[in-house]
Amino acid sequence: MDISRTSDVWWKNAVFYCLDVETFRDGNGDGIGDFIGLAQQIDYLAGLGVTCIWLMPFHPSTNRDDGYDISDYYAVDPRLGTLGDFVEFVRTARDRGIRVISDLVVNHTSREHPWFQAARSDRKSPYRDWYVWRDEVPKGGSDSLVFPGEEESNWEWDDKAGQFYLHRFYKHQPDLNIAHPKVREEIRRIIGFWLEVGLSGFRIDAVPFLLETEGITHEMTIAPHNWLRDLRSFLGRRCGDAMLLGEVNLEYEDVRRFYGDEGDELHMCLNFNLNQALALALVHQDAGALVHSLRAMPTLPRDAAWANFVRNHDEWSLDKLTEAERQEVFRAFGPTPEMQLFGRGLRRRLPTMLGGDQARMRLAYSLIFSLPGAPVLFYGEEIGLAENLDIPGRLSVRAPMQWSNEPNGGFSTAAPDNLSRPVVEGRKWGPAAINVADQERDPRSLLSWMERLIRRRRETPEIVFGDRRLVSVDEPEILALRYDWDGQASIIIHNLAAKDQKTSFKLDRPLGQDGLVDRFGEGDVSVGRDGSVSLSLAGYGYRWFRLRQSAENMAV
Ligand code: NOJ
Ligand code: CA
Repeated sequence: MDISRTSDVWWKNAVFYCLDVETFRDGNGDGIGDFIGLAQQIDYLAGLGVTCIWLMPFHPSTNRDDGYDISDYYAVDPRLGTLGDFVEFVRTARDRGIRVISDLVVNHTSREHPWFQAARSDRKSPYRDWYVWRDEVPKGGSDSLVFPGEEESNWEWDDKAGQFYLHRFYKHQPDLNIAHPKVREEIRRIIGFWLEVGLSGFRIDAVPFLLETEGITHEMTIAPHNWLRDLRSFLGRRCGDAMLLGEVNLEYEDVRRFYGDEGDELHMCLNFNLNQALALALVHQDAGALVHSLRAMPTLPRDAAWANFVRNHDEWSLDKLTEAERQEVFRAFGPTPEMQLFGRGLRRRLPTMLGGDQARMRLAYSLIFSLPGAPVLFYGEEIGLAENLDIPGRLSVRAPMQWSNEPNGGFSTAAPDNLSRPVVEGRKWGPAAINVADQERDPRSLLSWMERLIRRRRETPEIVFGDRRLVSVDEPEILALRYDWDGQASIIIHNLAAKDQKTSFKLDRPLGQDGLVDRFGEGDVSVGRDGSVSLSLAGYGYRWFRLRQSAENMAV
């Protein structure tokens, strides 16, 4: 693989930006973000360096789970615009070099979806078997709940149907029966439809639940992973460079299975394991958790990659940590019960958890951008947007984007009471302090820094295409990684601790006159004839180097 082939797998070196149309920008002044408003901000995203927008669900929905309860898969929520507005937005994005993917939420539908309404109303309806029914709640099955405290069972009685139905998420989200060939056919049709109107792929919601057949009594004539393989080839036939990004929040070895033995299932998976290691490493001010996670990270098939993130639109789930570790993170980043959720996560964004410490925030993003995979930003992270704990549950981190110091942070011209969600308040985190317009004018702002980080990341394809090695250092607070690819190599070093650090290491191939070129402008570093390097890092500092290759070494 060399640079000329990277466009075939564009998603590997993409910079993803996840957003909720509803909270991004209101184009018609009704208080709800929409596609017209989003289209107006495409140049902002292009300037930031984003190469792929991930849209959270934008379909007609009962909106009891922020759009993850879809009631029509073939339309746009009229509050957000029309299908025409959607196509105009996708086209504008494409013109600026930005692809668009969206959530594909087909583990379940809304309870109000006409399929479910038909299914519950009549046992003879062709839609009856599109869902999973039982006369009694099955014994011995999985009783783990996704939303403990909000749901008590995965089965709900329906009076009209006279049976219980399966729901792995909220009771208003009945699970589809993927053992039914017509359901699988419909999922293909949904994918086909959105590819046809311009999408470049999908973030598949809740993949393990989608493939799970527990509770389903129908015989499934195709093994679930073979079905996922079929779906991938269908996608490829319809659109050669489209991609599937999976939400697979499992242990590493289990996630690996979703890429397929031959690399023929999901192209990418969100890296929850690394994400939780990041939380621990930040709290411990020690690289240990990240080193451990990197060592445990399975080798992926050639055309596959991780999608790495700091925070996403849900709670910061810490479900993979031990109870003691989770409590440590809670104490450091979310000590009060209102900041915690489901006993496993935090409903906060990063800047507030780090008390607004710019150096530490930059450390977290520099880390995530330099670990193997493609980075995913959640809207507002580039300006240090905070959460609004007054918004219930997981929605606290989905407050409106802050564009300027104008009323409603420039999100909408509607009266504040008419906004679909309240803006973050307060002198420290509200729009007066945190907004795009001010940060665009300030070369030292987080936004200006993030632009540079994205540029560096895009110019460092070896992070995702290259061979990676942990460089051995003595200091437990320091993480040093080396990537080699296509005749170039990067050494990227982070100091997890608040204190300044000196470190030294040895490049395993003596490199003669070669040196390390500092790519953030803090000064190049020389390499001894035996390959030894000594350098210093500021507290929470990061250094991205590229190895200067002498002609002699290039040939090796
Ligand atoms: C995962 C999504 O990220 C979450 O927000 C949603 O509630 C569930 N899947 C159910 O669709
Ligand atoms: Ca609107």
